[in-house]
Amino acid sequence: MDKILLLVFVGMVIGCYYDVEEDFQVNQECNVDNISYASDVLEIVSSRCYKCHAAALNLGNVTLEGYDKIKIYVNNGKLLGAVKRESGFSPMPQNESMLPSCDILTIESWVNAGAPNN
Ligand code: HEC
Repeated sequence: MDKILLLVFVGMVIGCYYDVEEDFQVNQECNVDNISYASDVLEIVSSRCYKCHAAALNLGNVTLEGYDKIKIYVNNGKLLGAVKRESGFSPMPQNESMLPSCDILTIESWVNAGAPNN
């Protein structure tokens, strides 16, 4: 009898845990209003891309460091193509899993707003 109660209890705890987890995922905010290059985009690109695409490294002959440089890849569509892993583009970050969806949305919103240097 005690064992059954224990199982029920464990079941409830696990059930709660998954509920909380689900709510967390649903409620996790991704605010893409008024994206700023300096405070939003740069944070993602410098932490996830500069290890290969800083000016001093220039891996694959691609430099993303500096507004004027990254703007080249905004304009030719390769920045979005690479992070969204569209066909015809090299999937980035190379050899790593896809960026979190909120990071991709952040970059995409910035590009769609005309990629301002703000
Ligand atoms: C581990 C190193 C590495 C990381 C990290 C990395 N890249 Fe790259 N990237 C490369 C190399 C090497 C190339 C050139 C070869 C190729 O296109 O696959 C490249 C090419 C590109 C290109 C040109 C793609 C094309 O289709 O011509 C873009 C745009 C790009 N990277 C963006 C990014 C962005 C944005 C990030 C961060 C989210 C990133 N990369 C992270 C190594 C990396």
